[in-house]
Amino acid sequence: MKESNDWNPNKYKKHADFVSNLALPVVELLDPKEGENILDLGCGEGTLALEIKKSGVEVIGVDLSEEMIKKTKSKGIDAKVMSATNLDFENKFDAVFSNAVLHWVKNSELAIQKIHKALKKEGRFVAEFGGYGNIKSLTDAMKEVFDNHSSWGNFNNPWIFLKDTDYKVLLENNGFKVEYIELIPRPTPIDDITNWLDVFANGITENLSDEQKVIFKKEVKEILKPTQYNEIDGWSADYVRLRVRAVKKKVWDS
Ligand code: BEZ
Repeated sequence: MKESNDWNPNKYKKHADFVSNLALPVVELLDPKEGENILDLGCGEGTLALEIKKSGVEVIGVDLSEEMIKKTKSKGIDAKVMSATNLDFENKFDAVFSNAVLHWVKNSELAIQKIHKALKKEGRFVAEFGGYGNIKSLTDAMKEVFDNHSSWGNFNNPWIFLKDTDYKVLLENNGFKVEYIELIPRPTPIDDITNWLDVFANGITENLSDEQKVIFKKEVKEILKPTQYNEIDGWSADYVRLRVRAVKKKVWDS
């Protein structure tokens, strides 16, 4: 589901397993009930869709990556290639669930409108994604390296990390009642910053040569090592989660 990036399911499984492992509290907040119809928006390789399905619900996964959709389907889950801003569902789901995806969608309001349309009345939207301050040290380091190499062009940040107060207003302005919203700082252990950059930041370096990509990763690593690495715990990323549960209230005639 993630925009501006190239997704490799094998690398994702190897270096980014923590993304779904840490999301079980979000599945708890979703509280899936037998017989419900649930959309997993940005299902990736389907780990959480499978977890949700265990509650006896019908799950459909959507994701921007064809490779990820193939993986999800191989787990027996109905899945389609579709973006958050182009969701093609109306009045269909009891809940829309999304983990670690919506910070890739720059037009947050359009995504909220599509989610609203996809839900039945009183349907719930339960999501977690990067919020205000998320991976600030990482993005600062990436920008610093681009700034130090003027021939590489500008650093284009592919992410949007909103404040809880701003996201709440967007939801309320678009027909949701917000039951819970919180920004949660969650420093997250990662296996190595180079692997993290390979999996999540390859869109940022797509116009660089292979040699420049190596320099980029080496210099980002050097900048981050004093603050994001220690001998005992290894590498950590300064994640801040925006966790939300909202219910569709208002319905507009279309
Ligand atoms: C996140 O889950 O917060 C995230 C992951 C990869 C890139 C940016 C943010």
